Amino acid sequence: MTRRKKRGLGRGVAIVGGAMSHFGAYPDKTSRDLMTEAYLDALATIDKGMDPADIEAIYVGNFLGELFEGQGHLGHIIADWLGLAPRPATRVEGACASSGLAFREAVLAVASGMYDVVLAGGVERMTNAPLENVHDYLAAAADVPFELHQAALTFPGLYAAMTTAYMAEYGASGEHLMSVAVKNHENGSLNPRAQFNVSLRDIMAQRAAGAEKKGRPVPQWRNEIDFLNDAAANPVVADPLRLFDCSPITDGASCVIVAAEEVAREYTDDVVAVTASAQASAGPFTTWRDGITGIPSARVAGRDAYEMAGVAPEDIDFAEVHDCFTIAEVMAIEDLGFFEPGKGAYASAEGRTARDSDRPINVSGGLKAKGHPVGATGTAQIQEVWNQLRGRAGERQITHKDLRLGLTHNVGGTGGTCAVHVLERI
Ligand code: COA
Repeated sequence: MTRRKKRGLGRGVAIVGGAMSHFGAYPDKTSRDLMTEAYLDALATIDKGMDPADIEAIYVGNFLGELFEGQGHLGHIIADWLGLAPRPATRVEGACASSGLAFREAVLAVASGMYDVVLAGGVERMTNAPLENVHDYLAAAADVPFELHQAALTFPGLYAAMTTAYMAEYGASGEHLMSVAVKNHENGSLNPRAQFNVSLRDIMAQRAAGAEKKGRPVPQWRNEIDFLNDAAANPVVADPLRLFDCSPITDGASCVIVAAEEVAREYTDDVVAVTASAQASAGPFTTWRDGITGIPSARVAGRDAYEMAGVAPEDIDFAEVHDCFTIAEVMAIEDLGFFEPGKGAYASAEGRTARDSDRPINVSGGLKAKGHPVGATGTAQIQEVWNQLRGRAGERQITHKDLRLGLTHNVGGTGGTCAVHVLERI
């Protein structure tokens, strides 16, 4: 008999502060610098203020500090740098889901009753390394013998294989995926901390102006899709994925401060609770998965999160999902039950995930435009949903609907790990 215990937190957990550093190429900034920026900004978001002495433990998501900057053992280093030593500090690694997992550890630590206030964050410094090394390093997120060696694929190649399978199964085209990039760049243009704080229209105008200045023929793209179909402007990275299907290489950090619900009102009257925290695992997609047009760990984590929150996919007002490649967003909105399998690409192209739609997805710009400093992405998603739920997301605030429930979906590798959280304004 398989027993499934109904899961719940031992006590309520809320988010009382959160921020991300500027995301982008900052090769001269170390992980310590990036994390300090995010931490000081997070402290400043706490409505009634917080004495840092209240923070009892630290969880730091980081994937590859050893390789990117020759620095492992980041937990205690960040604690010391933020002035929080000797409090316990733990580094959490789950590839691109590292800080989604760090956040989950912080939530569980508070829910257990061990601590009342915990800092969860993530950081990755990536752009100081040569690109060919970056690719080799990121490939370690895959199952190396089975996904990389046996299938002879690069990391973008793995998602390209998923794209090819999705297109073959559901008849979707590259243009359906391009609509995800168009939307996420549009959203990123409203996010002052995004790596690409520009819409595709702005990028097209910049490129045209650049060509004119150099006396070269000025490209005459009719619209964004025309631009994305131009092989010179949008070259193939791993067929059928092109440059604008990929998230970029990014430096950045993010952090959130969680507190037991019973003390949260000491810090804010605007409380956002963690209604569900779920995590699941899966084997390599080349071997043991039932198809590669979706991610099984995301389906399980999504299902568990809905069960824990006592809600259904249609109750979720908006979500930040892991669009490391455009196909990943399409699979995410299907795996999470927002759209039927095979319908996500079409729904995206129809604008049904736009900022002003019924189900806004990645209003922050997503990994695609906001940037993807891998270890920092999970808590960057959390702080975005937290800000949106409190009506404090600035120009990109969702205003056409009342926001109560927001979801984050953070994937490691090709889906070996997935963390899903549901946040609720209470
Ligand atoms: N989307 C759009 N434009 C991008 C981009 C991206 N993902 N990455 C880089 N660019 C732009 C740069 O801004 C630059 O523009 P400019 O010439 O106008 O200044 C130009 O492309 C070249 O930049 P560069 O840094 O030399 O890009 P690159 O060709 O070396 O790298 C990728 C591009 C797509 C290969 C790289 O971003 C990549 O590997 N992304 C995937 C990362 C990944 O796998 N993450 C883990 C996922 S879980």
